Amino acid sequence: MKQGKFIVVEGIEGVGKTSNLNLIAKFIQEADQQVIVTREPGGTPIAEALRGILLSEFDEETLGETELLLLFAGRLQHVEHVIKPALKLGKWVVCDRFCDATYAYQGAGRRIDIQRIAALHRWALGDFAPDYTILLDAPVETAFERILKLRDLDRIEKEKHSFFERVRAQYLEIANSHPERYSIIDAAKPLEEVELCIKALLKDIVLTN
Ligand code: TMP
Repeated sequence: MKQGKFIVVEGIEGVGKTSNLNLIAKFIQEADQQVIVTREPGGTPIAEALRGILLSEFDEETLGETELLLLFAGRLQHVEHVIKPALKLGKWVVCDRFCDATYAYQGAGRRIDIQRIAALHRWALGDFAPDYTILLDAPVETAFERILKLRDLDRIEKEKHSFFERVRAQYLEIANSHPERYSIIDAAKPLEEVELCIKALLKDIVLTN
């Protein structure tokens, strides 16, 4: 059986990942492929419990390194119990964030040495990686204006503006260094225009598969 493909959507909060993930899944289904939509942190019962810890506030500082370890613990559960089995069954997997989020948030945001993240990444996942990643990019002000209208901020979202500037810059750097497996979409545009860009991109990825 033909393996499915693993597609990841990345970007800072407020860039419209959730609605675009659903659009991507619908497009893949309409191309007669089976698809699952999942997310990080999370995606399995254990990983969702770890997500709860990651996003909650305690009377104790959560160290950046602790975040890093919890993220990879959940990610391993997610990869082994959900992502790889689905791909083996020929399903496509569309995931809200994956490892590059860790390089962006814990690497650039929390300033943890990228080499340490890379070592843990290799130890946990070997060379397992997404087939394709879509980066939804928008200025930090635009993105936060959107979420502040919708809901309260979680522990990570309460970080300073400069934190998210570093996260955004790191995402752009990763995407620009790997043009063969990354596309950057301007998510500051109206949603309909963003959707058209994503559909054009998916035609290449899905229909040429
Ligand atoms: P979400 O906004 O996509 O639901 O993600 C929850 C938060 O987790 C978000 O603020 C980004 C953060 N995060 C990291 O800090 N590192 C990671 O590796 C991932 C996957 C998410």
